[in-house]
Amino acid sequence: MAQDYMQDYAANATSFDDKTELRGQVALVTGASSGIGAAVAEALVRRGVSVAMAARRTDRLQEMAARLADEARERNANDGAYGETLALACDVRDAGQTEAAVRQTLDRWRRLDIVVANAGIGIRRPLVEADPQRWKEMLDTNVYGLLLTLKYAVAPMLERKRGHVIVMSSVAGRVPTGGGSAYCGAKAAATAIAESLRIEVSAQGVRVTTIEPGVVISEFQQVAEYAPEIVPNMLKGATPLYPADIARTIIFALEQPASVGLHEILIRPAGQVYP
Ligand SMILES: NC(=O)c1ccc[n+]([C@@H]2O[C@H](COP(=O)([O-])OP(=O)(O)OC[C@H]3O[C@@H](n4cnc5c(N)ncnc54)[C@H](OP(=O)(O)O)[C@@H]3O)[C@@H](O)[C@H]2O)c1
Repeated sequence: MAQDYMQDYAANATSFDDKTELRGQVALVTGASSGIGAAVAEALVRRGVSVAMAARRTDRLQEMAARLADEARERNANDGAYGETLALACDVRDAGQTEAAVRQTLDRWRRLDIVVANAGIGIRRPLVEADPQRWKEMLDTNVYGLLLTLKYAVAPMLERKRGHVIVMSSVAGRVPTGGGSAYCGAKAAATAIAESLRIEVSAQGVRVTTIEPGVVISEFQQVAEYAPEIVPNMLKGATPLYPADIARTIIFALEQPASVGLHEILIRPAGQVYP
């Protein structure tokens, strides 16, 4: 058996050119109206991927779609260099809306190659002080909404026996912090969900990659109502990450050859020590 592998060794050992071609693929990105999701959607469109952009704030999605279409026109990119876009109103906490987002993507392009399950919100509050209603909203979005997104998006991938699933977890899913009980728990759940899904689908042509960012500056900190000292305390002078850093990482994962499973990526600001 080992000899069979060695037959291919000479051809493959130093071949760096067999990246997965993204141009012409179709992606669904949840939480595409700001921050990481918006950066990923833009990066994909600029690589020729047609992107269904899902979120509740459709005005933002429509602005993005118009801006990317203008950009493609200005660059005269009518040869598939730019992907198309579709703005979809979708609250991932609602099973009907999430299923409809997948259906509308398939109706438009007849396929789904990539899902970026990214929609999410934060909470940072000592457990005994937290508002249970906000816990529920966050868990419904980050855990139940993630499950719904994966359920509906992965089914058509299994039918075609190909696809790439990106699950947006967090370093918080690995490293618990004070004030992070609910959010760290939700992101530990996201990482576990992704790993279970990987076990279920990896023999059927579907790859799963979990992304675990450290501090990324976006609207996340405002939505989570972070106190002003929280980010500086985590960074301790380090330069933070920005959404484009995560988008670049996701493109790297997506471009790996079909035989390569990049299953988990922990990405922090280089100088962030903890968490
Ligand atoms: N920023 C960080 O430091 C950091 C670090 C690690 C992981 N993450 C994770 O990265 C993901 C994106 O965060 P971000 O930093 O880009 O924050 P952001 O700028 O606040 O973006 C969050 C996105 O999620 C969408 N969203 C929220 N609730 C939703 C719902 N119920 N249905 C559909 N979409 C919903 C928002 O869109 P609408 O409000 O328009 O619906 C928005 O597009 C989250 O899963 C977050 O946990 C962030």
